[in-house]
Amino acid sequence: MRVLGIETTCDETAVAIVGDRLGGHGGDILANEVRSQIDRHRAYGGVVPEIAARAHIEVLGPLMARALEHARVDVSGLDAIAAAAGPGLVGGILVGLTAGKALALAAGKPFIAVNHLEGHALTARLVEQIDFPYLALLVSGGHTQLVAVNGVGDYRRLGSTVDDAAGEAFDKVAKMLGLPYPGGPQIERLANDGDAHRFDFPRPMLGRAGADFSLSGLKTAVRLETLRLGTLSETDVKDVAASFQAAVVDVIVDRVRAGLRMFMEGSGRPNGLAIGGGVGANGAIRRALIRCCAETGVRFVAPPPELCADNGAMIAWAGLERYKLGLKDDLAFAPRPRWPLDATASGAHHGKA
Ligand code: KG4
Ligand code: ZN
Repeated sequence: MRVLGIETTCDETAVAIVGDRLGGHGGDILANEVRSQIDRHRAYGGVVPEIAARAHIEVLGPLMARALEHARVDVSGLDAIAAAAGPGLVGGILVGLTAGKALALAAGKPFIAVNHLEGHALTARLVEQIDFPYLALLVSGGHTQLVAVNGVGDYRRLGSTVDDAAGEAFDKVAKMLGLPYPGGPQIERLANDGDAHRFDFPRPMLGRAGADFSLSGLKTAVRLETLRLGTLSETDVKDVAASFQAAVVDVIVDRVRAGLRMFMEGSGRPNGLAIGGGVGANGAIRRALIRCCAETGVRFVAPPPELCADNGAMIAWAGLERYKLGLKDDLAFAPRPRWPLDATASGAHHGKA
């Protein structure tokens, strides 16, 4: 079985073709084309929706052709076409969703609308053999949440950020330090040479009941510290980056522990903790979670950094998982700029507006 997946919800244009394996465990990535638009947005310090949508239009067609070429697959050899239908920037979603529908219609193949967050949550099963249920930590520029993944389309959100997403906090702190967008990789690089103990930044929500996150207080504390320091030396920048990253790591580990406890109270032991989203590429966070999982006896599944960041393979894989269950969508499926994973949240039901 082979599914083509399209991702255009933010600032990467991505197309992938993923196949399933005999025995049903994990998938094979036959093509995985990603074009970042970061260069076009950098001057603005963040993603500009209109520029993103136009760039997706320019790049998507050739990228679909390349993916088919790399996978050595003809459109007729595909079983289904999947596209991310949200959550994200509506202009970009429209581009990918429309391209996916058009290809499905022209080729006479089923079309599957995928929730971008479901793509991140199911990537663990693309790269490793892991059964439901498991706990997923989704940490990106737009989202920070802990989700019980009970099955395809069956998710329960245990906690999420009440203010900034983790990636947003990395990006904003990077901006304060005069570093280019996106800030996460810059902060990580500088933190490697910095003193994580020099500044004692707050760890919001530590020990708090529930599994929610808060990161804006930490961001504000960093802002006040940088204002106090005035002109920042190279050492100051490295030390702030290291101290900030250490605080984020502590918050994430504490919230993951809380999420694991909530999970166990609700549905017993999870089959693992899976990480997804661009911040999941961060080495300090990954190392801390490896330790946390070793202590709690929970298996840790960390897709490689390029599959944590936005990509097409996660959309193709989620599409493949849905297709295997007989799920497909109408060509009238509308983009969903807001689309919570949790079915108990309003408007979350797949296939309904
Ligand atoms: O999942 P993603 O590629 O796009 C969204 O859906 O947001 O995540 C992008 C976010 C950005 O905020 C970026 O700064 C952050 O992930 N990020 C990192 C690292 N690499 C990317 N944050 C911390 N450390 C990293 N190494
Ligand atoms: Zn994402």
